[in-house]
Amino acid sequence: MVKELYQSADWKKEKHVPVIEIIEKDKEKGVKIEVSVGKEIPHPNTTAHHICWIEVYFLPEGNKFPYQIGRFDFLSHGASVDGPDTSSVYSEPVVQLKFKTQKEGKIFATSYCNIHGLWESSIELKF
Ligand SMILES: [Fe+2]
Repeated sequence: MVKELYQSADWKKEKHVPVIEIIEKDKEKGVKIEVSVGKEIPHPNTTAHHICWIEVYFLPEGNKFPYQIGRFDFLSHGASVDGPDTSSVYSEPVVQLKFKTQKEGKIFATSYCNIHGLWESSIELKF
């Protein structure tokens, strides 16, 4: 099953684990979060080795199915017509997003490294 392909660990020790931080939370104004990869131990960001995307889901308490909040593709990894690592333009796997909900629940993030595969993490959302 695909779930067997997802790896997880302590993000302070493993650079691939997506880090989810709640920046603000309010039932009326919404929930603002930042999701990043490589917060404690920077992940390489080169043509040969980079983070391709991050996806974020929210599972309201008591729900069976999650809702996808966003998907973020990172598309510049140094390549240009002159070859790998020549453009000087590198996407950083850091995003901020906001959503509204009245419910508490669990926020999930998944990420994909072109070499080291799929990673996941989650945090509780409590008001
Ligand atoms: Fe990697």
